[in-house]
Amino acid sequence: MLGVIAGTGLENFFKGIEAPIKTDYGSVHAILTKGDKIAFISRHGFAHDVPPHKINHKAHFAALKKLGVSGILGFSACGAISKYSIGDLVLLEDFIDFRAPQTFFDKLESINQHAWMVPPFSKTLQNKVFAAAGKAKVVLKKGGVVAVTAGPRLETPAEIKAFAKLGANLVGMTTSPEATLSRELGLEYAAIAVVSNHAAGVKRFAPSGAGIAAVAAAQAHKAAKIVAELSK
Ligand code: HPA
Repeated sequence: MLGVIAGTGLENFFKGIEAPIKTDYGSVHAILTKGDKIAFISRHGFAHDVPPHKINHKAHFAALKKLGVSGILGFSACGAISKYSIGDLVLLEDFIDFRAPQTFFDKLESINQHAWMVPPFSKTLQNKVFAAAGKAKVVLKKGGVVAVTAGPRLETPAEIKAFAKLGANLVGMTTSPEATLSRELGLEYAAIAVVSNHAAGVKRFAPSGAGIAAVAAAQAHKAAKIVAELSK
């Protein structure tokens, strides 16, 4: 079973049976597709009513662990700082996040609980995702480095300039908690950015929430093709 978590514009990605899953961190509603091939979690809820800073990431990952998924692929709408164009799908290869931590380890019981983040995403799953995109004839660009902000507000032009100087070429709100929590649970996790806007100050037009969701939704068919190939 493959775990899939998708966000803005991709809330209703899969049809299937809704399965409530209880975890130590709260309940999660996953969608299980035919033959239990995919367990899907809508990151912001099916009605897109959970803002980025209120997402119960811990429950999502605990639920996927409970289901025994072989790996998890995350899709998230991102703004382009450089290098990428609107509508691109980009494999994320690294992230920058200096915010407060998201962790399962509030009490260290072992030195190994300092999650080792090299590489930041599962290379094994990344290779499979890339091969699946190739088979599905979907262009998946490489080299994504995402700066992760708390949201729900978008960034200021000065913040985006600073992230560019630090080496980020994309900006989003959810990748780092997911990469960190999955690593802490020993789950394979890879992520694809769906480029939905130019980041603040990059072009004359400021990004809007509705615009971001519409562009991401227009790429859903490409994301679905990759997942279909990957879950075969
Ligand atoms: N900034 C942060 N998160 C985002 C953006 C953005 O420009 N676009 C989509 N998610």
